Amino acid sequence: MTPGVTVRTLPDTLMLAEVAADWLDSRIARRPDLTVLVATGQTPMGMYGRLAARVRASTLDCSGVTAVQLDEYAGLPDGDPRSLRDWMMRSFVTPLGIHKVVPLDDPATFTAQVEALGGLDVAILGLGPNGHLGFNEPPCGPDAPTRTVTLTPESLLSNRSYWNGLNVPMQAVTAGMDVILGARETLLLVSGAHKRGILSAALDGPETPAVPASYLRRTALTVFADREARP
Ligand code: PGA
Repeated sequence: MTPGVTVRTLPDTLMLAEVAADWLDSRIARRPDLTVLVATGQTPMGMYGRLAARVRASTLDCSGVTAVQLDEYAGLPDGDPRSLRDWMMRSFVTPLGIHKVVPLDDPATFTAQVEALGGLDVAILGLGPNGHLGFNEPPCGPDAPTRTVTLTPESLLSNRSYWNGLNVPMQAVTAGMDVILGARETLLLVSGAHKRGILSAALDGPETPAVPASYLRRTALTVFADREARP
């Protein structure tokens, strides 16, 4: 894939989910053994639900896909309800009938594991309110490796909505910008008026460590946004 940016505004989150599901569906049709970096967060859940419905209807087969974990809070005990891996498993891996998963356990070996698979075909990403990708918190350049980071106040606040009153851990492990930007294609999903300013900074402003998502324009990038996020 050559770098290039495609941006499409959808009328609402339902259409965004459907169009994003079509996008991944067509990649899996072309390449059944697709390797996919998988974001959690609210934004891609509609897309994952649409894909799961297609798998249940036997119009989509994801059994050859490999799912690679994007990020995880640091220091959680096994079985902690805040595990992002468990969220990825119940929203994406299990309902899509995927058997192969690369967890983000050890930052020291993660990149080699991805490389051993031949690299990422696709990265599915949401956009942080501060412009982060995964937990690559600003300021963050394009070469940042997979590592443990301290979350910014914006991320702590936005992540609170996921956990029903539970605290958000202060630290996390994230796939590095080097891994994310190495994907052969990236899909960025954005919805809501609260993301409008940061999406514009990522797409229309300069490349800058202050907005890690601004580096996505170096990749073969598709952005699907709803009208609130990209009028
Ligand atoms: P959201 O999270 O999809 O829940 O808005 C995106 C992110 O913080 O990366």
